Amino acid sequence: MFYRPAHDPHGLAHNPFKALVAPRPIAWVSTLDADGRANLAPFSFFNAVSEAPQILMFAAYGKKPAEDLNKDTLRNVLETREFVINVAPLALKDAMNASAAPYPAGVDEYERAGLTKAACEIVQPPRVAESPVAFECRFMQRVELPSPDPDYTNGLVLGEVVGIHIDDSVIKDGKIDVKSYKPLARLGYMDYAAITETFSMPRPQAV
Ligand SMILES: Cc1cc2nc3c(=O)[nH]c(=O)nc-3n(C[C@H](O)[C@H](O)[C@H](O)COP(=O)(O)O)c2cc1C
Repeated sequence: MFYRPAHDPHGLAHNPFKALVAPRPIAWVSTLDADGRANLAPFSFFNAVSEAPQILMFAAYGKKPAEDLNKDTLRNVLETREFVINVAPLALKDAMNASAAPYPAGVDEYERAGLTKAACEIVQPPRVAESPVAFECRFMQRVELPSPDPDYTNGLVLGEVVGIHIDDSVIKDGKIDVKSYKPLARLGYMDYAAITETFSMPRPQAV
């Protein structure tokens, strides 16, 4: 099949777009609001976009509530200019999902999801103590994207990584052993995957 997303119906029971860009890693984003209240939410429009300097991005789309700018995470990042991206392991899948519920601003998803806050080294927001990997980030830039609904905002957040936490248990022979914590990934629909198998391939020489 072929279709032009902006012009044609896809004709399937569900929009296939996100299922076609799969797996996507999940940024479990921890922020503080201007009053110092913690917030935690997952974002799967997420990736690393630069290695030097190290830059991560995630994208938020939505409004909540009507008079508010956007998702709590985005508002907090724009107000406080700091955030932490935690990696969610398979063992925390239910806590990750629980933190996505549309709670009102000021509700602490750490408490709702049964998670523990750990202090960061450089930024003010806490990290998820149970997560084996966390990136402390400083807000760099917001990139506005078109939004199909004028009441909703859409856009990327770019952040420079200023500190990285790695639990010693996931370092094996000087390398990160993702199989030991099985990072969660988002697929389409309500589907997820976790990395349980890996393989290596040397880069080819030009011949
Ligand atoms: C696995 C997963 C991935 C998600 N990815 C995104 C995303 O990329 N962008 C987005 O705007 N919302 C995404 N959401 C929805 C937000 O997590 C949800 O709207 C959350 O309530 C936002 O919380 P906040 O208002 O505290 O920021 C995702 C939810 C889940 C469960």
